[in-house]
Amino acid sequence: MRVILAPMDGVLDHLMRDLLTKVGGYDLCVTEFVRVVDQIISDRAFFRSCPELKNADVYGSTTQAGTPVRVQLLGQNPACMSDNAAKVIELGSHGVDINFGCPAKMVNKNRGGAILLKDPENLYQIVSAIKKAVPEDAIVSAKIRLGYEDKSLAIENAQAIESAGANELTVHARTKIEGYKPPAHWQWIAKIKQSIDIPVIANGDIFNQSDAKKCREITTCSDIMVGRGALMMPNLAQVIKHQDPQLAPVMPWHEVQRLLLDYTRCETYGDKSKYYPNRIKQWLKYLKLQYTEADALFQEIRTFKTAQAIIDKL
Ligand SMILES: Cc1cc2nc3c(=O)[nH]c(=O)nc-3n(C[C@H](O)[C@H](O)[C@H](O)COP(=O)(O)O)c2cc1C
Repeated sequence: MRVILAPMDGVLDHLMRDLLTKVGGYDLCVTEFVRVVDQIISDRAFFRSCPELKNADVYGSTTQAGTPVRVQLLGQNPACMSDNAAKVIELGSHGVDINFGCPAKMVNKNRGGAILLKDPENLYQIVSAIKKAVPEDAIVSAKIRLGYEDKSLAIENAQAIESAGANELTVHARTKIEGYKPPAHWQWIAKIKQSIDIPVIANGDIFNQSDAKKCREITTCSDIMVGRGALMMPNLAQVIKHQDPQLAPVMPWHEVQRLLLDYTRCETYGDKSKYYPNRIKQWLKYLKLQYTEADALFQEIRTFKTAQAIIDKL
């Protein structure tokens, strides 16, 4: 079984990838999406989204804990997407992931993300161009939702992605219209898995050990991807992998507090930066779904504006 840390734009940055992969249990991370419009992205912009590329060795980019990191691209132009895919592989990305699921209005308006799920031929063109542009052994993966308005093209989209040569497919079990509204339709992942031969990674609403078990049973997928759950429970991957809760209990709050402190100390963007205060508050909003203590802490630091004030409190 692989447990993959999901891409989460504006939330799951390289600092969070470092923290969570140090806690352990993750087999792969996918970066927040890098938007491709009509030109080659600069090295600097790729390094900003994926600083792990700077330390990539022959095996590709990894977090400090050694977990592979794959850059995700979002765009609609096959030629431009493939040029950028070739570039990230050259820079050392552990494969390239293509975002066909983003529901953001602006992104969809510019024909990127989930809107592409209305057009299997376009998915085919993008994946196929990328596959041709990268070395044969580079992994090309795609991430889809079940559709845009409805699920009528779910199988066709998956088949288009497979026949274009993708090596694996992650399925977030909702349409664009369904947003993040529960439930995730795991039985649809099973249908997709039955209709293609490449590995399928199941994603959506896996928040604890029992969700992971049920999801793997229903989808018949061995591999799963977790996003919000990883932020709610920092040792979720370990909890999922150790079937016995005695061996991997949910991380106690005092250890989570240490992680919050580590996150604040990872790097500084200057005293005036709102980066850490904002990110810590955002993380606490997820943590409070698992830990009542996180809610209390959030209330205490809600108005704090500097990293130092938060560190002092922690
Ligand atoms: C705030 C936020 C940002 C996200 N950013 C991305 C992204 O950049 N690329 C992507 O493919 N999916 C993105 N997603 C979707 C997640 O990767 C994942 O598919 C979704 O949250 C369902 O999984 P979960 O229930 O484990 O969170 C994002 C989701 C959230 C909530």
